Amino acid sequence: MNDYVHTPVLLNEVTTFLQIRPDGTYLDCTTGEGGHAYEVGRRLSSEGTLFMMDVDAEVLAIARERLQETAARKVIIRGNFRDMTRLLKDYPDTRFDGILMDLGFSSEQLTGTGKGLSFANDQPLDMRLDDTLKVSARDIVNSFAEGELADILWKYGEESRSRQVARAIVRRRHQAPIETTGELAETVATVFPARHTRIHPATRSFQALRIYVNDELNALDIGLRSAASLLKANGRLLVISYHSLEDRIVKTSYLALCENPVSGEPGFRRVNKKVIRPSDGEVAENRRSRSAKLRVLERVSA
Ligand SMILES: C[S@@+](CC[C@H](N)C(=O)[O-])C[C@H]1O[C@@H](n2cnc3c(N)ncnc32)[C@H](O)[C@@H]1O
Repeated sequence: MNDYVHTPVLLNEVTTFLQIRPDGTYLDCTTGEGGHAYEVGRRLSSEGTLFMMDVDAEVLAIARERLQETAARKVIIRGNFRDMTRLLKDYPDTRFDGILMDLGFSSEQLTGTGKGLSFANDQPLDMRLDDTLKVSARDIVNSFAEGELADILWKYGEESRSRQVARAIVRRRHQAPIETTGELAETVATVFPARHTRIHPATRSFQALRIYVNDELNALDIGLRSAASLLKANGRLLVISYHSLEDRIVKTSYLALCENPVSGEPGFRRVNKKVIRPSDGEVAENRRSRSAKLRVLERVSA
């Protein structure tokens, strides 16, 4: 029996495509509670090494404990994968057989750690995965100009009613600051007719604010290039994304890396040209997996 809240997505596909060698060196850039990391770690011998990175110290502590019994050498690094090169400076010659990015947030962060990511349970409006960041979602909704708010909702949430939602937020905050996820969700919902769609009307606005607060798309763009440069020959980079903005960046970066390899260095190939999606069975068991897309890049031998 385990108490882990998060169910790892595409777990079989991840372990298969990583082609794990017991003495290999692997990096999980988004360790979370360690669901994927555990399955990688337990396939490694004492000659193998698993680097476990996450921007959130709380979930990383859970993963550390979870992997304690595995034989592999473990290196735990708290930080943002956009800074991967700097975070790995104490391991200058390390190159990886496999690197995983399972983007977004974990179910534990959604429901447990009070990061204010969800409207499903009312929490203080925060959304910072990294608690050292200065600006929270609360600061944004209560202080940004209406036009700026609308732009964020449009750009990062693809919210077609971005202007109306921004106007509703500004109107509401004139009465009192918006402090909780529940208050924000309620405010956004006023813009939509009841029973508008199957998903909650605040879903896109919450996604937009989370991406903006954590600067997720820039981090991904930078992190992907750093990760690719750290692969050994035949090493693989696996990225699981959960919405079209992320997937577009992964796809474009992979294509660019394949077409324009750094001169003098081995190039890359896309292992799967079509994205890998979860099976119907997985989606039925884990609703969170329904939007997952896995793309795999491989460094070719010199
Ligand atoms: C979907 S969860 C990972 C779940 C994990 N694979 C598992 O199976 O338990 C995503 C994790 O990535 C972390 N994260 C998101 N963006 C990050 C970034 N730029 N750098 C490092 N960690 C990040 C989050 O804090 C979260 O723990």
